[in-house]
Amino acid sequence: MASQAVQHAAEAFPQTQELKTHNHLIDDKAALDAAWEQDGYWFFRDVLDKAAVARLRQSWIDELERNRVIDPVGSSATDKSVAYNGGSLETFPFRMEPIAAKRPWVQFVAEQPINAFFTRLFKDDPFWVPVVEYRATPPQQDRTKSRIDAIHQDGPFSPGIPFRICWIPLAEIDADIGGLMLAEGMAADRVSYHPKVEGGSNGAIPLDAIPADRWRRTTYQAGDVLLMNLWTPHTGLANRSDRFRLSMDHRVMAKGDKCPLVGIIEDISESHVVIRNAQGEHRLTIDPETYVRNTVGQKLNGTAITDFHTIGREVIIAYDGDRASVVRPPH
Ligand SMILES: [Fe+2]
Repeated sequence: MASQAVQHAAEAFPQTQELKTHNHLIDDKAALDAAWEQDGYWFFRDVLDKAAVARLRQSWIDELERNRVIDPVGSSATDKSVAYNGGSLETFPFRMEPIAAKRPWVQFVAEQPINAFFTRLFKDDPFWVPVVEYRATPPQQDRTKSRIDAIHQDGPFSPGIPFRICWIPLAEIDADIGGLMLAEGMAADRVSYHPKVEGGSNGAIPLDAIPADRWRRTTYQAGDVLLMNLWTPHTGLANRSDRFRLSMDHRVMAKGDKCPLVGIIEDISESHVVIRNAQGEHRLTIDPETYVRNTVGQKLNGTAITDFHTIGREVIIAYDGDRASVVRPPH
């Protein structure tokens, strides 16, 4: 009985419906904008050049081979993902720091067909915010745990940066592999569903805050891309397959949007920050409402600001006039 109850709790997640596809709206800016508000996402099926996605995926495959958690792939296809071979995950870099250090996104977004797709979509050059998560998620080890990672909206963690979340599956992600699941039609009012917890950080969104019939996902394929509104609640769904889940989570805007400053910290205190980038030096004030944050989205206050954000590190700053509204690290 007890084990059945555990099994039930671990499997329990809302029934999901199929994501809409928005391919037919490309080139119709008004319809795209309306869908962005109403649906809270754009899902484009089979629009990214598969050879470019395969070149990007190779960084993940190389890293998995180096960690001996997959068998050598040789010349076999990897677009349906790769099987976990049961190798030790003790030293596995779950946040893929070795890939992050190589910044493979830079080459990917510069590939002609990739750049052409986003330029056509925005009718403007894309501006890639260097906030990138590289994920190679192995099968969930503790299957008594919930399949839902953490329901959240990105908006309350980066107030004032109007970027679009750009989630790119690098290989097939089916229902067993899990991956991204989102709540449709909950972004238009820009309501934060996060309870505020101590220190001004955002607590996790409880499952029952989202109507059960809103959840959407699909079987994602290499070549698909999901752009998501900052106010759309979403979560990862644990991997219950025998394969790795391979994806890249990026942020993009149109050049003409109000893009954040990206630069290297030259000076910082609890009340100001100075950064330098190709355009020169920028000085901004920090006040108690500025969402200065760390890598996991916690708001930093007082001396925690200068303990975490130090001179010489890269930082992303959203601003109003000369006041910083968000100060965040890239990763
Ligand atoms: Fe997210």
